[in-house]
Amino acid sequence: MDFLQETEKYIGSKCPPEADISGLVGYSQDIKNGDVCMPCFKLAKALHASPVAIADGFKSRMTDLPSFILKAESVNGYLNIFFDREALSRSVLEFTLGRGEKFAPMPSNGETICIDYSSVNIAKPFHIGHLSTTVIGGSLYRIFKFLGYNAVGINHLGDYGTQFGKLITAYFKWGEGEPTMDSLLELYVRFHKEAEKDESLNDEARMWFKKIEDGDSVALSIFEKFKEITLKEVGKVYDRLGIKFDSYDGESFYNDKLAPVVEELKQKNLLVKSDGAMVVPLDEYGMPPCLILKSDGASLYATRDLACAIYRKKHYDFKKNLYVVAYQQNLHFNQVFKVLELMGYKWASDCVHVPFGMVSIEGAGSLSTRSGNVVKLADVIDKAVEKTKEIIAEKNPDLKDADKTAEDIGVGAVVFGALSGSRIKDIVFSLDKALNFDGETGPYLQYTHARCCSILAKARASGKVNYGELVDDESFALIRRLNTFDDTVKAAAERYEPSILSRYLIDLAQEFNKFYIGHRIISDDLSAMNARLMLTEAVKNTLRSGMELILLRAPEKM
Ligand code: ARG
Repeated sequence: MDFLQETEKYIGSKCPPEADISGLVGYSQDIKNGDVCMPCFKLAKALHASPVAIADGFKSRMTDLPSFILKAESVNGYLNIFFDREALSRSVLEFTLGRGEKFAPMPSNGETICIDYSSVNIAKPFHIGHLSTTVIGGSLYRIFKFLGYNAVGINHLGDYGTQFGKLITAYFKWGEGEPTMDSLLELYVRFHKEAEKDESLNDEARMWFKKIEDGDSVALSIFEKFKEITLKEVGKVYDRLGIKFDSYDGESFYNDKLAPVVEELKQKNLLVKSDGAMVVPLDEYGMPPCLILKSDGASLYATRDLACAIYRKKHYDFKKNLYVVAYQQNLHFNQVFKVLELMGYKWASDCVHVPFGMVSIEGAGSLSTRSGNVVKLADVIDKAVEKTKEIIAEKNPDLKDADKTAEDIGVGAVVFGALSGSRIKDIVFSLDKALNFDGETGPYLQYTHARCCSILAKARASGKVNYGELVDDESFALIRRLNTFDDTVKAAAERYEPSILSRYLIDLAQEFNKFYIGHRIISDDLSAMNARLMLTEAVKNTLRSGMELILLRAPEKM
């Protein structure tokens, strides 16, 4: 139950009809003023009475307190509510511990959410610019699954375009041996250099691209090879991050689904010829026209996204169709969604662009690759893991499985770096900050979880629990926090914002550490120990379950 909401409901039932208390009830800053309080100043006008008289009135009408409220007081125009903390601790802990170590997902609600994320480009390095889409999408995927949705993770591969004709040309001219991601990038760079001198290279590239389109077996087999190499490389990173997809249908998947869309646009009188190209004008909606076909008849990024959205609706019948893509593509998605709407698709409003800001790395110099300013995601993770190994060697040299733990922590630091702040903000990522075990970081969450584990390795709660031991402010802060886990996950899903859950977990960890410092958990006072161990276990399980939803692994020792 939501303590605040229930309290508001109860107070509301005592409110004269001419006033409205919504939004007035909140948690008290100072616990002396009750767990929850309502200032009555804003009600004075509607009720033609002084705040003091209003608070008195509420108090005197509250004769049938619900079981979770112990008492109400009227003090200087405030209505202060004191909870029956013992009863609430019991109900929250019984519920939380009943969910086990790893909370099971909620029962299926039968609704499908498509999530387009990571969506890498073939033969291009998997660089730091892909971090946010990969982990925000990957986290939303887990969050929606946890909430009982049928989440479909889609990697909309960038596997179509003239650049692949260029690559094949370069590969035949200068390629040596088995191509690798690095050699492909070099070939691509070289092509552009040489093509400045030799125009005919571009003709050759066009020819190869046409061959891919026509399904020529040589062209396709080389292209498939590029694809395979790329997917192998990104697959390694996905495995380390714990990222999964249900589909790799990318741009080229829609090759044979474009003509019907163009036809439909024509029939609906939406297509207009402009400088030889075919476009859907959108000036009425304050946007430049959406390009559908180039003058040579070739399709565009938007054409494919139109076909793709229509396909997803037919194939998955989504409730929501999310695109976790950088804000640089705002215009693109606004155009595509608008065209879908103009085509008469009501579900266009269920398509959502989930934008995010840019990631850059502090002191990235050492991480840039030869061919330009690209910082590879794998290199950043490697560096984080390497630094973690140094920290472990210094702080806990006897740790068993140190390499595995360093991997969990290093990856966690990078992942949390991209999931901790509101997604629309640009991030300047600093490895040192991300690895600070005392900061608001992934490793801090992991450390707090491991701390809970090490306490529970010494002793476990058993027998009857006296919940009266958990009514102090530090314990009850934890109870309050534990109680809002599900609502927090729902809020993160509703706003497509995993950082809401990240924030919650940091708050929970900080409150736990405050409790840990303020109270002896393992002691001779068996009644207090038992109750505190119980609370520790509930915190541990909640941390672990929540961390999983933001892609953090939870080692038991570190
Ligand atoms: N491959 C694109 C890029 O790297 C992102 C694709 C996003 N998804 C989509 N359906 N347009 O910019």
